Amino acid sequence: MNSATRPAILNGLPVRPKGPPDWPRPDPLVQTVFERLVKTGDWGRYHGPHGTELCQQLAHYHSLEQVLLCSSGTAAMELVLRGLNISPGDEVILAGYDFKANFQNVLCVQAIPVLIDLSPTTWQLDPTRIDPAISAKTRAIIVSHLHGGVVAMPHILQIAKAHGIAVIEDACQNPGAMIHGRRSGTWGDVGILSFGGSKLLTAGRGGAVLTNRADVAERIKRYVQRGNDAYPLSEMQSAILVPQLGQLDAFNQRRSQSVQDLCRQLSDFPGLTVLQPPTGDVQPAYYKVGLQYRSECWAGLTRDGFAASLRAEGIAIDPGFRGLHLIHASRRFRPADSLQEATQADAGMLTLHHPVLLEGTSAIAEIVTAIHKIHAHAAEIAATAPTCD
Ligand SMILES: Cc1ncc(COP(=O)(O)O)c(C=O)c1O
Repeated sequence: MNSATRPAILNGLPVRPKGPPDWPRPDPLVQTVFERLVKTGDWGRYHGPHGTELCQQLAHYHSLEQVLLCSSGTAAMELVLRGLNISPGDEVILAGYDFKANFQNVLCVQAIPVLIDLSPTTWQLDPTRIDPAISAKTRAIIVSHLHGGVVAMPHILQIAKAHGIAVIEDACQNPGAMIHGRRSGTWGDVGILSFGGSKLLTAGRGGAVLTNRADVAERIKRYVQRGNDAYPLSEMQSAILVPQLGQLDAFNQRRSQSVQDLCRQLSDFPGLTVLQPPTGDVQPAYYKVGLQYRSECWAGLTRDGFAASLRAEGIAIDPGFRGLHLIHASRRFRPADSLQEATQADAGMLTLHHPVLLEGTSAIAEIVTAIHKIHAHAAEIAATAPTCD
């Protein structure tokens, strides 16, 4: 058989022999900043103009008053919970399928995570699950936009207002997305961003807290200040983020076009569906592209076996998060419902990593070719399952 039509996992030729594109990409603007940092010595200073400039630019970009920089998105979430005065025994609602550190941070302030299910159509937090989950102890809800999806923020705000609970919006996976005319991360009482090494805005590590609430910002500033900033973002990190923020909208648009292309080409494909893209007045942003996988349409090839097969073709794709209720002891949280969809997402979510989306139509065509190749050989790959799980 022609080795180009044989999957790489079965010793055929990979569709993308060079593998996934590097991230971060070489960027002349970032290079110029590094040269300037070396010249001025700002790369090694505690204090300078770069942190202040980044705060101003982020505040302007998000039309917000307060931006606090910190060492990671995970640290940002902890600081937000402390800034909102979440205390031992309080309850914080979040989706049963979410970034693990969000759950851990709730525990870190000795509060109780209350897990609610996802919407079956979007696999994002389901706002209709919030009301029944609220108790006298509920203080806040964490809303994460995941894998290119967007949660209906107007609906969330309406419920939160009616119950007097705070909204924490996790925009780590979709910085710059527009939701009904407002940036992701600016809907809640507080929002968070991540500048981790794989993220759309990257400084290797880093994060930010976004808010208009002066009381929350003040509490966070007091918490991190111990004669020194205990959760710092360095001047060097701040400086290299500024030019990236200037390019974010254009890059988000290119990534979105690639996802639309992918959706179109997979629309009739059985057993693999791009998470329903947000509709209406929403411009999404893609750090990952979420896909729903159904192994019954793939001759029993497991989700993890499929991901391994695509990786062998040179495409960066991985299983999604684990369901939080499936990886933590039941005494650690309160499940507010059956978490049926979160369980489905645990087993069936795939996440395509974003760098390939900037390569345009030819790269999307390669992904689709690889998917077809694997589908045609699914039974044969499944038979070799122990090597690809
Ligand atoms: C949804 C979400 N929230 C928070 C974070 C935490 O960001 P960091 O890696 O900067 O701690 C991540 C990181 O991937 C994330 O995906």
